[in-house]
Amino acid sequence: MRITDKTNPIEYRAQEDRYDEMIYRRCGNSGILLPTISLGLWHNFGYLDNLENARNILKYAFDTGITHFDLANNYGPPYGSAEESFGLLLKRDFAKYRDELIISSKAGFDMWPGPYGNLGSRKYLIASCDQSLKRMGLDYVDIFYHHRPDPDTPLEETMSALDHLVRQGKALYAGISNYPADLAEKAACILKDLGTPCLIHQAKYSMFERWVESDLLDILDDNGIGCIAFSPLAQGMLTDKYINGIPKDSRAAKAMTYLEKEQVEAQLPKIRQLQEIAQTRGQKLSQMALSWLLKDDRVTSVLIGASSVKQLEENLESLDKLVFDEDEIRKIDDVLGES
Ligand SMILES: NC(=O)c1ccc[n+]([C@@H]2O[C@H](COP(=O)([O-])OP(=O)(O)OC[C@H]3O[C@@H](n4cnc5c(N)ncnc54)[C@H](OP(=O)(O)O)[C@@H]3O)[C@@H](O)[C@H]2O)c1
Repeated sequence: MRITDKTNPIEYRAQEDRYDEMIYRRCGNSGILLPTISLGLWHNFGYLDNLENARNILKYAFDTGITHFDLANNYGPPYGSAEESFGLLLKRDFAKYRDELIISSKAGFDMWPGPYGNLGSRKYLIASCDQSLKRMGLDYVDIFYHHRPDPDTPLEETMSALDHLVRQGKALYAGISNYPADLAEKAACILKDLGTPCLIHQAKYSMFERWVESDLLDILDDNGIGCIAFSPLAQGMLTDKYINGIPKDSRAAKAMTYLEKEQVEAQLPKIRQLQEIAQTRGQKLSQMALSWLLKDDRVTSVLIGASSVKQLEENLESLDKLVFDEDEIRKIDDVLGES
């Protein structure tokens, strides 16, 4: 008997040539190579999103050499649902490719009620990592991050929790995120003494958010730690999507996101000027924004989000033009008010 399910009953097989085009960079002085473009599941992978769209995005990503998928306990909405959806798709399509994937998760923001479901205690991090593994159906994650600094928990306690997870085999590497430069250096020093070197720092970095340039990038470089730049498109503002208004299906128009219409409107004059520079380079603004970050070798990878395969396809083309001449750099700095 044949089944009449015509949706997509064919088993997924990754493209044979998936490693041909992607550029990989070493993460700090570790043994790990990361794709210069990684995919984050903060948005577009929760229960409120379309699972088949999410599945197509993941398949396209893996087929084009994106080996790194980034999650956190609270991605969704609701919290936890991105990990559950990812777990489902992993089981269905990617289980046989597990050893070709770098999967990360994090804990540090509010996750469950009461005093033990937030910030940086050993109690929270270890319980949260266990929960994430269950939701994704994994034995281990490749990277486990402390998601943000906790001003009240001793840094030694938080770092020793990361070290513990690595020693237990629940995470292969430890990472930190949103740590300012001085604290990142202290955390790296503690982890090194514990025998679990910090692999990577996940930092917000885009044309609109350049705080890492003052100290952090040098400190990471000096300590052999990789840098992965999150929200490199400033949540979509550094693309052509908002040039003619706010589309109904965009992040800025949706509820339960962290991008307000007012933020977009305030940046529009700069977005338009940057778009002109991109055009003279023969790129789309999205592509220039990613190339601009990757021109610096200290940036291991840019961690993008995508709500469609088309966006991902467009963004991947940024790798065709990573070099900027001095005039282009100066013009961009002028627009950004950095000259
Ligand atoms: N560590 C942390 O604290 C932290 C915080 C935030 C994010 N992150 C990580 O970073 C990842 C990426 O963050 P992000 O989603 O803010 O990154 P982003 O790349 O700056 O923004 C992604 C969004 O921009 C829009 N977009 C992408 N490509 C486009 C294109 N070519 N044309 C038009 N619009 C395009 C889409 O939004 P639309 O829905 O409008 O189409 C997409 O969802 C997250 O998934 C997460 O893994 C980490």
